[in-house]
Amino acid sequence: MKVDFYTSTREYNDKKEEFNNAVLGVMQKGISMLGTEVTDFEKAVQEFTGAKYAIGVASGTDALVIAADILGFIEEKITKDTAGIIPIHLFSQMGDMDKIMDIACIHDLRVLEDSAEAFGMRWKSNGLDYRHAGTIGDFGVFSFFPTKTLGAYGDAGMIVTNDEELARITKMYRVHGASKKYHYDYIGYNSRLDSIQAAILQVKIKYINESIKKREHIAKLYIDRLEECEFIKIPKIKWNQKPVYYVFNVLAQRRDELCEYLKANEIGNSIYYPIPLHLQKCFEYLGYKKGDFPVAEKIAENIIALPIYPEITEEEVEFVCETIKKFYKEII
Ligand SMILES: Cc1ncc(COP(=O)(O)O)c(C=O)c1O
Repeated sequence: MKVDFYTSTREYNDKKEEFNNAVLGVMQKGISMLGTEVTDFEKAVQEFTGAKYAIGVASGTDALVIAADILGFIEEKITKDTAGIIPIHLFSQMGDMDKIMDIACIHDLRVLEDSAEAFGMRWKSNGLDYRHAGTIGDFGVFSFFPTKTLGAYGDAGMIVTNDEELARITKMYRVHGASKKYHYDYIGYNSRLDSIQAAILQVKIKYINESIKKREHIAKLYIDRLEECEFIKIPKIKWNQKPVYYVFNVLAQRRDELCEYLKANEIGNSIYYPIPLHLQKCFEYLGYKKGDFPVAEKIAENIIALPIYPEITEEEVEFVCETIKKFYKEII
C-alpha cells in the first residue's frame, strides 16, 4: 500500500464539478482584481472566525509581514522598546493566549497572532466563549497554503482584526499603500488575494467543519494505535482549547531511521522542522550556537509528521501505525 503524505487529487475528484465551476466562473466573468470572489470569501472567514474584519492577501508570509509592518514590529525596533509579541499557534494547538494577553496588557504591547496553521482552532478564557485563533490579539494571520486545513490551489493568506482603524490601514497596505488609485498614504505592498484562489477557497470553506472533524478522527486513530508504543511520544493538548489536527507530529526514537523505513514502505512523512531558528544560516549574525536552545534542538532531532488529511482512509492510517510498530520490533 502506498500512502501519500498529502494529496489534493482525492478532494478534487470528490468535488470536481464545484471546483471546475468556481475556477471557470472567474474566467467567464472576466478578470477583476479583489472582486466579489475575494470579498465573499472574506465575509465567509469573518463569519467562521467571528473577526470583525478580514482582509485577503497573497500569502501567509505577506499577511505576517504586512501586519508586523503596520504594528511597527520592524527589526530596528527590537530593543528595550519592543513593540509587541508574535505568538505562533503551531501544529495542532494554540499557545497560552491568557498568559500572552496578560503580559501584553501589563507591558502595553501589541499582539500579532501567527495563526497561519491555526484555522479552526479556538481558545476558551475564563468567563468568555470560545474565540477563534487570530481574533484575540490586535491582528491574526492565516495561511491558505495548499496543505493547510483550509488550503487553496496556490498561495493565499488573510489578515483578521477587530480594530476598524487597523483594518482600514491593512486594506491600503495590500495595494501599495494607496487610499485611492495613485494616492499613496503609506509605502505598502502588492499583495492581493487572487480571485481564482478565493473562488476555490469559497468552495472549501463550506466543508470546513466536516474536514476538521475528519482530521480529528484520524488523529484519534493515530493516538489510539500509537499510544502504547514506548518509542513514540504523542502530543498532548494543553489548556482549555479546541485543537485542529493540521499536522500530526510525534516524537520518535531513532527518527531518521524510522523516516527511511517509512519511505522504503512508500509511506510519506515530513520533518517540521529539521533546523531550529537559532541554527539557521540567515540568523548566524545573532551569534547563537548549538546548545543554546536544547529543547528546540532535541525536538528537531526527534519530530516526525505522519500523513493526515480528510481524505486519508482508516486502512491507510492502520498501515502507517503497523509499519511504525514493525520498525521498532525489527530494530530492538
Ligand atoms: C506558522 C507559520 N507562519 C507563517 C507561514 C507562512 O505562510 P505561507 O506559506 O502562506 O506564506 C506558515 C506556512 O507554512 C506557517 O506555518
